[in-house]
Amino acid sequence: MRSFCGLMAIFSLAALSAPAQTTAIPHLQRQGAATQLIVDGKPFLMLAGELRNSNSTSPDYMKPIWPRMAAMHVNTVLSAVQWELIEPQEGKFDFSLVDSQIRDAQTHNLRLIFLWFGSWKNGVSSYVPAWVKTNQAKYPRVQDKTGRGSEILSTLSAANRDADARAFAALMRHIKEVDVRRRVVMMQVENEVGLGGDSRDRCEAANKAFEAPVPKELLDYLGANKDRLYPQLRKAWEAAGSKTSGTWAQVFGEGEYTDEIFMAWNYASYVGKVAAAGKAEYPLPMFVNNACSMPSPGRPAPRGGGRPQPEVGNIWKFAAPAIDIRGPDLYTPNLPVWVNWYQESFVPENPLFIPETDGNTGTYHAFYVFGQHDGMGFSPFAIDEYAIARPGVKSVDAADLPLARSYGILTQLAPVILENQGKGKMAGVVAGAGETPQKIPLGNYVLQVSYPGRGRQAATAAAAPPPVFAGVSLEATEPAERSGALFISMGPDEYLVAGSGPLEVRFSPNTPGDPIVGILSIEEGAYADGRWVPGRRLNGDENGGGTDLRLGGDSSRNGLIQRIKLYRYH
Ligand code: DGJ
Repeated sequence: MRSFCGLMAIFSLAALSAPAQTTAIPHLQRQGAATQLIVDGKPFLMLAGELRNSNSTSPDYMKPIWPRMAAMHVNTVLSAVQWELIEPQEGKFDFSLVDSQIRDAQTHNLRLIFLWFGSWKNGVSSYVPAWVKTNQAKYPRVQDKTGRGSEILSTLSAANRDADARAFAALMRHIKEVDVRRRVVMMQVENEVGLGGDSRDRCEAANKAFEAPVPKELLDYLGANKDRLYPQLRKAWEAAGSKTSGTWAQVFGEGEYTDEIFMAWNYASYVGKVAAAGKAEYPLPMFVNNACSMPSPGRPAPRGGGRPQPEVGNIWKFAAPAIDIRGPDLYTPNLPVWVNWYQESFVPENPLFIPETDGNTGTYHAFYVFGQHDGMGFSPFAIDEYAIARPGVKSVDAADLPLARSYGILTQLAPVILENQGKGKMAGVVAGAGETPQKIPLGNYVLQVSYPGRGRQAATAAAAPPPVFAGVSLEATEPAERSGALFISMGPDEYLVAGSGPLEVRFSPNTPGDPIVGILSIEEGAYADGRWVPGRRLNGDENGGGTDLRLGGDSSRNGLIQRIKLYRYH
């Protein structure tokens, strides 16, 4: 008997090789102040998750994972493509793992973002093919001051760059050929690039480049964009005399920051050329991810080494125009602080996509990212491990995970969020137990948002001031109990409120007129195909006797999506 799986494979192969589709290639498009990803001709909100990176190397291992992703309301899976596996011999490609992922994504109605683990993964060249690893003379590595090599390909090598770009171009050509259903919506080029351990590469080619003049085109660009330079960059350049020519040290001064600028130029130029070679074959949106925040309290954030961080954002922006987005990997509990800094400093505009984050805090951070920053996508790391049994951890129903519940709500709201992006009609918040209520002006009212009751509060940060990185205060303590919400102004006196709960919201006027705000009605409900489906009306005990809106929480047992209508009196 031909097995069901066999039939599925034939069916899926047919789907993969069906005649070319007419839907537009996924692309980025502005809507007001926001940038949206357009998939199948429509804006698409990425409720994403990144797989633990090695799992995509085995289709069998992945089998139970795909349905789990769909059950968690994940609509986009970030999954690795390793250079060594697609080009085991120079010029000979094997795309079977790519094909099986596209096929499985199609079967489970998921979109994919492929992570190109080319020259660097976590800054290290662990996934380059053996024929690259074993030919150091042709494919040179970063060296330290003593001339000792490392497991990191040097950016200062055209051979390294061109070999990587050829493989990436072949990958993009292949995706274009086989992915007629547009499952693949974006590409990450390399992974968390940047040098650790030393401030710059000291191989012979790097030393020579460091002593050579700064490329004129870079200095011309900096000169033409003086007012848009990151303050530290502008200061360094001006302090050294605003020179229009000279070596790196002459133009930016001696020191580690100059090494960082130099490395940023070299990483960005290299990655930009790899991305451009891929786009020439198939122009999907492309991004880089940046090891941004500290993963746990007390651990310093990775810095310098040319990473796509705001202090060298201008360099990345200019040297790698084929990169559309620089995405912060943010594992920190104080994600909002980091997002604000990252977005405000990354000049010019940098659409917000978070390629990696923590899936527990993601339960509430997701609402903040989409509500406050017109986020294009949000992607907790190791998403495939949240619902599986392993030693010491019981298997749970994927749909019942807190993150899955948040994604379920966001799935319902996606059409409304997309409709309102870029129009200044949305806000997002994260509120913690014991924290001062936050005041959010939105439309005709100010929303005062607080975490109800006492809850578990943050271990006191007062004893030692938190460390500061580039002006950003980093939390050094365990986080408080928190929840997140987003607010959409649906009319002059009406709001949609949704979140992870529990939260309380009070309203006060933001415009002249009667000073007292009353609640006309609160409904909990759901969205189906972008249409509001009301459930219970909560005009009694559940709204504190007409004073506030209460989202979730054991005491109120209110729903997590509510619509409130207000009025004013004196
Ligand atoms: C960040 C990297 O980008 C991921 O590929 C993965 O290695 C995680 N760290 C592991 O925590």
